[in-house]
Amino acid sequence: MTDPLLALRPWQSPEVTSWGRLPMNAVDRRTGAVSLDGDWRFQLLPAPEVPPRDTWSTSAVPGVWTMRDTDDLPAYLNVRMPFAQFPPHTPAANPTGVHEREFDVPAAWAGRRIVLQVGAAESVLLVHVDGHPVGISKDSHLAAEFDLSHLVRPGTPSTLRLTVVKWSDASHIEDQDQWWHGGITRSVLLYATDPLHLADMGVRAGRDGRLRVDCQIRDARGALPAGWYVTGDLDGRPLAQDKEFDRVNAEDERVSDFLGEARIETVVPEVRTWNAETPELYTLTVRLHRADGTVADTARQRVGFRDVEVVGRDLLVNGERVYVRGVNRHDFHPLTGRTVSADDMRADLVLLKRFGFNAIRTAHYPNDPALYDLADELGLYVVDEADIESHDHAHEIADDPRYLGAFVDRVARMVLRDKNHPSVIIWSLGNESDYGANHDAAAGWVRRHDPSRPLQYEGAAKRGWADPDVASDIACPMYASLEECLAHALSGSQTKPLIQCEYSHAMGNSNGTLADHWAAIEATPGLQGGFIWEFWDHGILQRVSDGRPAGPAGTGLHADGVTAPGYRWAYGGDFGEADHDGAFIADGVVFPDRTPKPVLFEHREIAAPLRIECFRHEGIVLGNHQHFRGLEWLAARWELALADGRTLTGEAQLPALRPGETAAVPLPFELPDDGGEAWLTLRVTTAEDQPWAPRGTEVCTPRVRLRAAGEPAAPVAGGDPVRLDDDGLLVHPLLTAAPVLSLWRAPTDNDELGGMAARWRSWGLDAPVRRLLSVERDGERVTVVAEYTAKAEVVRHRQVFTPVAGGLRIDESAELPARFDDVARVGSVFETVAGLDLLEWFGQGPWESYPDRAAGAAVGHHALPVDALFTPYLRPQESGGRHGVRAFTLSAPDATGLRVELDAPRQVSVTRFRAADLTAVTHHDELVPRAGCVVHLDAAHRGLGTASCGPDTFASYLVPTGVHRWSWTLRAL
Ligand code: GAL
Ligand code: MG
Repeated sequence: MTDPLLALRPWQSPEVTSWGRLPMNAVDRRTGAVSLDGDWRFQLLPAPEVPPRDTWSTSAVPGVWTMRDTDDLPAYLNVRMPFAQFPPHTPAANPTGVHEREFDVPAAWAGRRIVLQVGAAESVLLVHVDGHPVGISKDSHLAAEFDLSHLVRPGTPSTLRLTVVKWSDASHIEDQDQWWHGGITRSVLLYATDPLHLADMGVRAGRDGRLRVDCQIRDARGALPAGWYVTGDLDGRPLAQDKEFDRVNAEDERVSDFLGEARIETVVPEVRTWNAETPELYTLTVRLHRADGTVADTARQRVGFRDVEVVGRDLLVNGERVYVRGVNRHDFHPLTGRTVSADDMRADLVLLKRFGFNAIRTAHYPNDPALYDLADELGLYVVDEADIESHDHAHEIADDPRYLGAFVDRVARMVLRDKNHPSVIIWSLGNESDYGANHDAAAGWVRRHDPSRPLQYEGAAKRGWADPDVASDIACPMYASLEECLAHALSGSQTKPLIQCEYSHAMGNSNGTLADHWAAIEATPGLQGGFIWEFWDHGILQRVSDGRPAGPAGTGLHADGVTAPGYRWAYGGDFGEADHDGAFIADGVVFPDRTPKPVLFEHREIAAPLRIECFRHEGIVLGNHQHFRGLEWLAARWELALADGRTLTGEAQLPALRPGETAAVPLPFELPDDGGEAWLTLRVTTAEDQPWAPRGTEVCTPRVRLRAAGEPAAPVAGGDPVRLDDDGLLVHPLLTAAPVLSLWRAPTDNDELGGMAARWRSWGLDAPVRRLLSVERDGERVTVVAEYTAKAEVVRHRQVFTPVAGGLRIDESAELPARFDDVARVGSVFETVAGLDLLEWFGQGPWESYPDRAAGAAVGHHALPVDALFTPYLRPQESGGRHGVRAFTLSAPDATGLRVELDAPRQVSVTRFRAADLTAVTHHDELVPRAGCVVHLDAAHRGLGTASCGPDTFASYLVPTGVHRWSWTLRAL
């Protein structure tokens, strides 16, 4: 007999969003539940219609089979669907995972209502118990619950089968930009309740201390027994029955035999409100009693008192116009694909807090319930996004009535589940699905069910940022240019808060102009922030030998973003996909092992709670840039860096400042008269343990220049005569390649996808041909002129070598023709002998910085091993640069080496790789480090921008045409 679940062919029926599934609700049933996670019998069928065989392997639940020993591997496509069929159709080849196990129902559950919860399965879940059809569910990132009471007998084992069909009508609305996987991605559990139970619970808790809890009561047997009632307490303080609610219900004859409704409430005096800075939580306990007073059901819920509202063009949390320092976060793990543990989620959120973020958008689907608990606890605002993205067929689906139910279902289920979390401040209808009647239907449902929060949808906002009729209370564009945002905020016609749902695309070496964006946001009413795209680089750990995912038990992880030998971070195309979108999947602010990329230090500084506003009248002005908190949780040490090499430090006393206040404080030291350029940095740390950072964790490093560099002393004549080879190239005992002109960098992802790299190649800048024009000697001084021919254009380069005491001074100039109006860099490149493995520098650091991403790097004396300077972006590209370098030494353990002093703060990089080495390979593991160092000193270096998806850098960060001049001295140590 055909199985009725299969007979429905639910994988090709968008109207079938579920069958036999219980309504979603917000009652947390995790405590007391029986976990069914672990090893299950497993087999992968080529299509759902194919009957299972008798041969089983085992598979971990939760887990995706695409990361295990199957032939169905991960595949990456951004917009395009991985199959040709139009919605709602699916390909005939449709991997289907059958998961089976026995389970026991505790004897103590006799007579109780027994519920199966499957945390998440993609994309269609079919449930059987002992061969009986139980139910169907879609909506891959929310749980599905089924009542098993009538099918199982406590004390007798049953067999549970979960069949997961990978491709379905639902895949067409789950076309998010990420790896395609198949499997069960969240935990499976069983729980039991009394037949009389809390069916749902809605909590409203405002900043005025008012708490209201609306309960829905049902009885699995049908009619409600007489005399039930509800009590509750908040940390021991009893809640009172809302008599008015009961009276109105009675008068309206709304009292039902089978749906019980109760409202209990209280007012908490001097309530400690919840916000992302001080996430104060209370514990609510709700009890459902039988007529005799015994407790039938209990629910616990943490409660945060807070208001969120849109007033005019401001989004207010507790009446404050908070900045939204957000990031988009996908569920990702390099070993498990999409299964993330509570510990993983905590690690993600802790890291975000440490780097100054206060918000996440759950791009692009609801997350595991644990994530919202963590956001409540640690203090992060959440834009909770429904699992709807129909990117490839967006226009066709947005108004397709066959998908109407799915849209409303997905949005409603998210709201029903997450409505009690204080962290959730905004609902999102989904992502990149055009805008149609299906969205308006879903929005209508939300507005009725939860008027307490704004909702947003980029696809709707796009129709007009100020349009009152579209389903978005927030103007939430993606990748809008700063000019466009500013123009809107200044237009006089702005009506909604402008908070970009995605901006500053973090692909490779990126996030240029982030600080400029924030300077504008903080200076412009109407602009309130945004969500960086995105948190993760989705590199899957791959064994190079056989090209397979390392898998859940993989051991190839290695610290600091680098993989162990024999492994690499795979991106699109690496699993043999015929069609893919390459490294576009690697666009996060952390590496696949969660190592922070340099941009995070930039962000941390931009978000600094404590800032030095300026230096004046021999003192500094400090400002508290938080919304709700004083400075008492912070401690600081001051650090004075002098150009002569000295660093002085001491304890700093922080003034008491309320949010938004500033105060002038005297310098905590006497500035020495000598020592040249002087910089003050405050190393601000947590003064006590925070839930997200132990005491002493660095929070920010605000800094200010106290004294500018003086005129450089005239070099003392002397030194050895200049030696040149026949090509006019410098011969120097410490250099293996003489300084030559460099106009090229290994293109970043932004350079490639933004079209700059193609232009540079078309101009021939990747391989200009050098020709010596002249060598002139004037006493000890030698002038070398060469020309670099790049296709039709010529760049003339002059080097003047002057022996000085202990070394050599090199004055250089290069003239960029008008045609080369946007090159990567102008500067010198040379290579050193092996063994110089330590770089010490005076300039910005310690982390990587570039002209348009240099706000996070303080000026001081820094030191790092050369190998640690390079940033291993997944697709090798220009990296490892340091901005604003004034001088550096490069030395061997025996203290031999070289010292370079620059005429001005310059962009410098010291790595083991030539630009050509980086461009020749596609993955980091293919790079072979050189023994010596490749050193770039740039007179000018192009900003990074974000052109891989979004605006390029600003004109002010481009390399101008015309004559560039730079000078440096080179000395042996
Ligand atoms: C957005 C999209 C994201 C991602 C990003 C580019 O358009 O919403 O899912 O694709 O671009 O990385
Ligand atoms: Mg998309």
